[in-house]
Amino acid sequence: ILEVITSEEAGFCFGVERAIDMVLEAAGQNENTPVYTLGPLIHNPQVVENLEKKNVKVASSLSEIESGIIIIRSHGVAPEVLDKAKAKGLKIIDATCPFVKNAQKYARKLVDEGYQTFIYGDKDHPEVKGIYGSTEKKSIIIKDKEDLDRKDLSKKVGFVAQTTKSPESFRDIISYIITEVKELKVYNTICNTTDVRQSSAKKLAEEVDIMFVIGGRNSANTTRLAEICTATGTPTYHIETANEINRTWLNGKNKVGITAGASTPDWLIREVIQLMNEENKEMKIEKTENENVEE
Ligand code: F3S
Repeated sequence: ILEVITSEEAGFCFGVERAIDMVLEAAGQNENTPVYTLGPLIHNPQVVENLEKKNVKVASSLSEIESGIIIIRSHGVAPEVLDKAKAKGLKIIDATCPFVKNAQKYARKLVDEGYQTFIYGDKDHPEVKGIYGSTEKKSIIIKDKEDLDRKDLSKKVGFVAQTTKSPESFRDIISYIITEVKELKVYNTICNTTDVRQSSAKKLAEEVDIMFVIGGRNSANTTRLAEICTATGTPTYHIETANEINRTWLNGKNKVGITAGASTPDWLIREVIQLMNEENKEMKIEKTENENVEE
């Protein structure tokens, strides 16, 4: 019989849940007004598909929207995007995660106070683009400490990080730079949800025989979770839905671990748990049948 354990922190984070609630509310209250999200609301194809059924469309840029409501997703956007949307006469619902807003605010503050401001993050990630935009492009994005080698560090230096970066890697960069500069001001803008999720997934993967990591293949945080679990040596499967599970994977396994990315809805997690329960029922039936045959 399979023992199924779900990781402590799995599924929607606070910021994503808040954004989804805001979108559903907007769609429910404005049946006759087109509702758009600027880019997919979250990196989960099943959720995006469900939203489409509720008449929430995805626009990849403002130029695709003539009128209606525009929803800013949890990653946030640069202030100039908000200004353009306002100028077009669109109604804006800003679902930027408050933690991301903080990162934007502190980056702006550092620039205003005259710090050479660095953003530790992935330059192509929408959140980082939004933080960079909030400094009016007066900051520098770095992806690792080597990037600092070619930078002018003679001024006072300020730092913020993309909310989903790992605390260790940020600590590493800060300790690297601290002896290179005269003055350093750091805002720790990392959201600990990611860290807690990753460490509880790792702990669980170490205890079980097989791990399922549920979430969009296009979701960076889900992919990272799968990498962390794989690194423990436990067979790990990154799946989007329960349908992808091949029952032979469970042969000889007793303990099943489940975790999910920050953009994975509860119903996708429940489907996997349900499948495990069905598997258990079938195993029980097979066992009873075998026992009967033996008698
Ligand atoms: Fe916000 Fe943290 Fe989620 S920054 S969107 S609560 S991962």
